[in-house]
Amino acid sequence: MNKKNIVLCGFMGSGKTAVGKQLSRLTSLNYVDIDNYIERKTGKTISEIFAESGEQHFRDLEYEAAKELSLKKGYVISAGGGTLLYERNVQVLKESCTVIFLDVPLSAIKYRLRNDTKRPLLQRPDKDRVMEELYNQRMPLYLKAADYRIDATKSPIGVAKDICKIIKK
Ligand code: S3P
Repeated sequence: MNKKNIVLCGFMGSGKTAVGKQLSRLTSLNYVDIDNYIERKTGKTISEIFAESGEQHFRDLEYEAAKELSLKKGYVISAGGGTLLYERNVQVLKESCTVIFLDVPLSAIKYRLRNDTKRPLLQRPDKDRVMEELYNQRMPLYLKAADYRIDATKSPIGVAKDICKIIKK
């Protein structure tokens, strides 16, 4: 790995947080989750930020976080499901990070998120349709942003081990 950090990207429920924690353990890199970073900085949950100030405000906070985290060295960074969809985030993160896309089929995502109550974009009755639409829109953008795509249907530790093999090459 030539770059200083690793960013994990992918759809909600693709395992960015769980895999990121395992990868940090295996590599001894520090770990940070962009959503957590924003929550700590603002003292609000992501749901509160969406509810009180709207998605655009959240996207601006996400950009600030991406800029700040891109200055760090030696981190595994779990992005949010929307982070790498925005060119401004891709630009700052790719300066210092290798981007890995966690690829999980829509059917598995739907199953993993069937009881989700935390993600503001999915708290609606037509959740399945929204997931399908977002998934199809986003796939090409994740692929465009990523340096590597990895099958992320395995357990988090299995996926983290596969990532280690790739970054050591
Ligand atoms: C979002 C995904 C969430 C969080 C926010 C928006 C998205 O992160 O950043 O709710 O646009 O896909 P996770 O992918 O960690 O759920």
